[in-house]
Amino acid sequence: MAALAEHPRTGAYYVTTPIYYVNDRPHLGHAYTTVAGDVLTRWHRQRGEDVWYLTGTDEHGQKILRTAEAHGVTPQEWCDKLVEEAWKPLWEHLRIANDDFIRTTEARHTARVQEFVQDLHDKGEIYRGSYTGLYCVGCEEYKLPGELLPGATEDEKLCPIHKRPVEWLEEENWFFRLSSYRPKLLEFYAANPDFIQPAAARNEVLRFVEQDLKDLSISRSTFDWGVPLPWDDKHVLYVWVDALQNYITAAGYGADPERFARLWPASVHLVGKDILRFHAVIWPAMLMAAGLPLPRRVVANGWLMVGGEKMSKSNLTGIAPTDLTAHFGVDAYRYYFLRAIPYGTDGSFSWEDFTARYTSELANDFGNLASRVAAMIGKYHGGVLPAATAHGPAEQAVADALARAAAEADRRIGEELDFAGGLAAVFEFVKAVNGYLTEQQPWKTAKTDTDEARARLATVLYTAAEALRATAVLLNPVMPGAAAKLWDSLGAEPALGALADQRLADVADWGRLPAGAAVTKGDILFPRLEEKNAS
Ligand code: MSP
Repeated sequence: MAALAEHPRTGAYYVTTPIYYVNDRPHLGHAYTTVAGDVLTRWHRQRGEDVWYLTGTDEHGQKILRTAEAHGVTPQEWCDKLVEEAWKPLWEHLRIANDDFIRTTEARHTARVQEFVQDLHDKGEIYRGSYTGLYCVGCEEYKLPGELLPGATEDEKLCPIHKRPVEWLEEENWFFRLSSYRPKLLEFYAANPDFIQPAAARNEVLRFVEQDLKDLSISRSTFDWGVPLPWDDKHVLYVWVDALQNYITAAGYGADPERFARLWPASVHLVGKDILRFHAVIWPAMLMAAGLPLPRRVVANGWLMVGGEKMSKSNLTGIAPTDLTAHFGVDAYRYYFLRAIPYGTDGSFSWEDFTARYTSELANDFGNLASRVAAMIGKYHGGVLPAATAHGPAEQAVADALARAAAEADRRIGEELDFAGGLAAVFEFVKAVNGYLTEQQPWKTAKTDTDEARARLATVLYTAAEALRATAVLLNPVMPGAAAKLWDSLGAEPALGALADQRLADVADWGRLPAGAAVTKGDILFPRLEEKNAS
């Protein structure tokens, strides 16, 4: 994916996730995007930027209403329960460091949404018309006949995503003049080639808008679970029009102009590929109509798949995010999906693959390195980090490898959202440090009692500890738990301050960890899975 560096930034680095429908509990697919956003956010925080991370829940519409009815509660009761019992606790458990959590039933949202649509109405962007067509309640989206799959009978047509029959909708509605924005949208995409990423997503949107663009029905009168239209209280706003505005209402639109100016336009909207058109077509057109700036980037991620289908509640085969964290831990969970699946493409989850990566990359390459180094400093230097008095070419090679890995990880994760590539670069470095120890064999040097050998031993131990210092900083956005344990075991805090305050710009500045640091063995970062099962 292309970098964002060419855009001048004056305000904050503002990242959003989709707001999730609370008709059910969060699953692995939802957590995937939210973890990615969290890593991106933490990465930019470590650059020292003014970062703001938003997630939340989408609580209106027919899907939520029907679910609540089926459970015999009001939709508000249903949403309150799910948000408090399922969604917020999962994000906390996964250590998602969002700055705000917006719920579309909150007055701070609904009041601003009404002002926004009233403004469009006043500007003549909204008119009355009638709609007839097919609708999928699962997607809360109109479908074109050509997109549908054949159903059980000749008349029945199925949504290609939900595999459930679509419904025939015939209504007097209010419409937004989406079609009139077609030329402006095409112009905008051409002038901002990085707006939609990755390239496949951009092409899909271009093809879609180039073909044709119909006006958008933005209201419903057959049910009332939504934001009432200010000028026609028999209608509620179409859930998507309400939902998209969360990105501005949470940022202070209409309520706090100063904050809004700092945060908007958003730097990155992270979205699943199924909701790309809403974010890359409808949302920009609505913003254009309102005269507001457009987000800088919309990045579509692929789907987590099960048996060749998009993972969903019905085909999850019973695996909840907490089942995986109970087995592998939260850090490994955050790491695995981003490392294993190139961002932007579909990927499958498998216990075997997760187990293999856990064991080889986290437990063996990284975890063992950390515990071996701490153990050797304990054994040969009484837990006090020695000075590197004999820094030579082998040590310089490690320092150079660090500089390369740090620059590459920063570019890939921070700019290109290539989490897998960035993590691969950091783990290449970890491998290089392991290779350095294997070559230097400090455990052998320790057996020789000469000044030269002592200097070599001290230098090798220092080099490995300093490499771990940098690794803790580079992995902190992805695995904050393990990184903090490592930071602790290196005794880094007294001299360098809190891990969260370390800047990526300084990470490759060799020699930061001072000699004399108190190194302790600490907890094993990634315990063997068998041991974990037994406990
Ligand atoms: N409420 C809307 C979004 C409104 S944003 C203004 C919505 N909600 S959703 O809960 O159905 O889906 C939210 C996100 O979860 C989407 O980006 C969707 O792509 C993502 N995922 C749902 N299942 C997924 C996978 N199996 N894999 C990856 N992401 C998937 O749409």
